[in-house]
Amino acid sequence: MKEAAVNGTRLAWREAGTGEPLVLLHGFPFDSRLWEPQLRAVPPGWLAIAPDLRGFGRSELGAIAPSVEQHARDVLALLDLLGLGRAVIGGLSMGGYCALALHRIAPGRVRALVLCDTRAEPDSDEARRHRAVQAVTARERGVDDVVRPMLARLLTPVTLVERPGLAAGLEQMMRETRPDALIAALHALAARPDARPQLASIRVPVLVIGGELDEITPPVVLRELAAAIPGARLRLLPGAGHVSNLEAEAGFNTALHAFLAELCEPT
Ligand code: MLT
Repeated sequence: MKEAAVNGTRLAWREAGTGEPLVLLHGFPFDSRLWEPQLRAVPPGWLAIAPDLRGFGRSELGAIAPSVEQHARDVLALLDLLGLGRAVIGGLSMGGYCALALHRIAPGRVRALVLCDTRAEPDSDEARRHRAVQAVTARERGVDDVVRPMLARLLTPVTLVERPGLAAGLEQMMRETRPDALIAALHALAARPDARPQLASIRVPVLVIGGELDEITPPVVLRELAAAIPGARLRLLPGAGHVSNLEAEAGFNTALHAFLAELCEPT
């Protein structure tokens, strides 16, 4: 794990491999450990960088309130610090919102996008109300009461029964989220803008990938996202729910590696 001062806070990140930069942004409420199966299997010629977004994991929340744009600016500052120009930017769910925000802010820094189990549209009124209730619950009763009910929507029923270690690890990661960071993230997620207007102008290669059984960003959402981005390809992973990179690790890595290999092919 590495750490540095970035945009007035302390940001921690994991790295694996060497070569062309691939940034992997975690979902909510996780941290860079979410990407362990991808960090263990970085293809030759690639440097994977998985930050703990501001407030999560070992990164401090800092004085600036988090937002998807602020997370994107933090990633850009981290790339600057590492002397890296353009990078492939990947993100799962909240990480995908941040990847799209980074493309909005600095399209020239994006070599390609990997959008995993995510969506471009903002929260519905109902989703915002639910987040407000979760924030009150976190403040009054603690993080556990917020994250415990989430597990059943993140993983498929089969994973919950047959892979208790994976489920326990994911639950533990969520439970370690600090209450102030959880509450700040809920506000940031509820306030995120509509990313749909930018989709038609994306000119870099895009892989949209997700679980066929994802309840939070179901296939219909992923199909719409891919259809709105010129030339984007879509990969749906059988047997996986919302954290498809964990539940369908092999299929996810195969699709990711094929996408990265194509980026390096001479045109
Ligand atoms: C995530 O996995 O990052 C969350 O489902 C995102 C969200 O709550 O919108």
